[in-house]
Amino acid sequence: MARLDTGRRDAGGPGADGPSGVGRRGAGWKSAVSGELPEGHRKSQAVQSMFDAIAGRYELCNTLFTLTLDRRWRAAAVDALGLEPRSEVLDVASGTGDLCRELAGRGFSPVGVDLSWGMLANARGGAPTIQADAASLPLPGASFDGVTSGFGLRNFADLPATLAEMARVLRPGGRVALLEVATPANPLLRMGHGLWFNHVVPAVGGVLSDSTAYRYLPRSVTYLPSPERMSQMMQEAGFSHVANRLLWGGLAQLFTATRSPA
Ligand SMILES: C[S@@+](CC[C@H](N)C(=O)[O-])C[C@H]1O[C@@H](n2cnc3c(N)ncnc32)[C@H](O)[C@@H]1O
Repeated sequence: MARLDTGRRDAGGPGADGPSGVGRRGAGWKSAVSGELPEGHRKSQAVQSMFDAIAGRYELCNTLFTLTLDRRWRAAAVDALGLEPRSEVLDVASGTGDLCRELAGRGFSPVGVDLSWGMLANARGGAPTIQADAASLPLPGASFDGVTSGFGLRNFADLPATLAEMARVLRPGGRVALLEVATPANPLLRMGHGLWFNHVVPAVGGVLSDSTAYRYLPRSVTYLPSPERMSQMMQEAGFSHVANRLLWGGLAQLFTATRSPA
């Protein structure tokens, strides 16, 4: 796999792990994500180390915990871009490359960017990848036709700065599709969803991967702004035609928008 190693060892802040130092910070992230949800630099460091730690079994857990629906949601995100084949698309928070593979399979040219060396080391599919913080992309302005992100929003420590970076690297008229989890409004579905994500996911995640991480991930939904606030933030970042759509009865949600002319 081609790897655009930008050499940005500072992406996670002081002491950030490099490609050979994945996990060097040890389990300090566990205390950071166990109590009150971390913010700012502390969040960034904890999220990076947590994904380093769970990278090996990330895709297996995702597939299991969403009963494979995650694949359909990523496909819906790529559909919603509405771009021509061969368009260049930056996948932000690309993780182990699921969305890059979906994009490549549809004839697009994806580039992945992620904070976690561990996730990038486990990436499959052959798309070029960059290790960097999405809030400070080492990429020229107006260099992509599309930007995607799958389940990244609640993990970003600085969402306004990240949205501004997404807008900056897009060509005017470029499209963005941001996929995230959601909480269903239907009371019955909401109850089942709560049981699944607050009880089954941490228990099974603890056996297959790491219980602290899979207790934190459902809690991290509280970082998500409301759809109205998120739309406002996207407009402030330089997007127009912002839309929010629920997928599968509100189990997931998709934000789409167009880069406004400069
Ligand atoms: C839930 S995973 C999603 C991975 C993949 N997009 C998918 O669809 O499964 C969230 C990813 O966001 C990455 N991430 C979190 N904060 C980031 C940041 N500031 N910049 C870049 N990537 C970040 C994590 O390292 C992790 O790989």
